[in-house]
Amino acid sequence: MAFLLRRPKLKLILIPAILFAIIVLHYIIQNTYQIKNTLSYATRPIWDAASGPKDIIPHYYAEGMKIDLHACQLHQWKEREGKDRVKVLDAVLMSSELDLLEIRMNELDSVVDKFFIIESNTTFTGLSKDTYFANNRKRFATFEEKIIYTFLPGYPLRPGQSAWDVEAFTRDSMTEMLRSHIRDFPSDTKTIVLMSDIDEIPASHTIALLKACDFGTSIHLQLRNFLYSFEWFLDLSSWRASVHLWRPNTIYRHSQTGDRLLADSGWHCSYCFRTIPEYIVKMKGFSHSDRIGGRAKLLEPKRIQETICRGKDIFDMLPEAYSYLDLLSQMSLEPLTSAVGLPRFLVENAEKFRFLLPGGCRRES
Ligand SMILES: *[C@@H]1O[C@H](CO)[C@@H](O)[C@H](O)[C@H]1NC(C)=O
Repeated sequence: MAFLLRRPKLKLILIPAILFAIIVLHYIIQNTYQIKNTLSYATRPIWDAASGPKDIIPHYYAEGMKIDLHACQLHQWKEREGKDRVKVLDAVLMSSELDLLEIRMNELDSVVDKFFIIESNTTFTGLSKDTYFANNRKRFATFEEKIIYTFLPGYPLRPGQSAWDVEAFTRDSMTEMLRSHIRDFPSDTKTIVLMSDIDEIPASHTIALLKACDFGTSIHLQLRNFLYSFEWFLDLSSWRASVHLWRPNTIYRHSQTGDRLLADSGWHCSYCFRTIPEYIVKMKGFSHSDRIGGRAKLLEPKRIQETICRGKDIFDMLPEAYSYLDLLSQMSLEPLTSAVGLPRFLVENAEKFRFLLPGGCRRES
């Protein structure tokens, strides 16, 4: 009898327990990607080390400083022979970032001979996109004589083809384009090529230094890393931008070519868009588009706007950090109130580029 009497009590515990288990299971299935990611990002400092070049070269510069023999010596370099026979080419794959391109070209105008731009009508993931440069070419009229532009027709991904394949093909096209122009230079020309994404902007004084001094055949540039605008400073971990003395076997790349990294050489502004729709396009077209992982809520304009103003991660994930100190500091960024030491054209045209500067987090819809 006593046993039977206790059974309803068991039910009382068992039913909620089963319900609870089902809810937990449902949550896990719904959020597998999110949970896996949180776990992997939260433990990254234990199992992963930052990639990229490790030999950081101290960088000396102050406003108005002469870039001469002494400047070269400070960096343990000799002055370049035949300085008057140097040509500098800047090469970028066009995205949608017209504002950053304008800031970039103005920053580099005094040190660059030609701007090479490749643009497609699809993203690397094969989605249709505007040809932003072609549609806005008038905006860059000041540089028209320096611009060498190629339109690369894009198509939806073929079966078995990945975004990485399309990216590699696009970079190869840039190599060919550079080669065919460099071929026509006088044979004693020393050609220096800047390889970086549009949002990775080398400082003009950095390029003046690399033009004047014999830095070797290639060097990476350490850039100040910003998120959404120059209001949110992340760290100095950006290293993919590089500068090359062109040789017949040089290829256009965005990966590690050597172990040397010139410190504090410019700016890397990630997700620095003027309008909310650009964020949505970028999030959908990202080569890691699995980050959305069925979470349609992530694409809501209101949430994106709040995320930008709070300096939080756009995919609602933990920051990609390699030490717990960095992880913690990047989880709660402090907005900068300084616009000192930024690209000159940006500061001189602060009204036009409000969205890139402290206090300008509101985006156009
Ligand atoms: C891109 O341009 C090429 C050539 O003009 C065209 O054939 C192709 O359909 C375009 N692709 C898209 C997605 O618009």
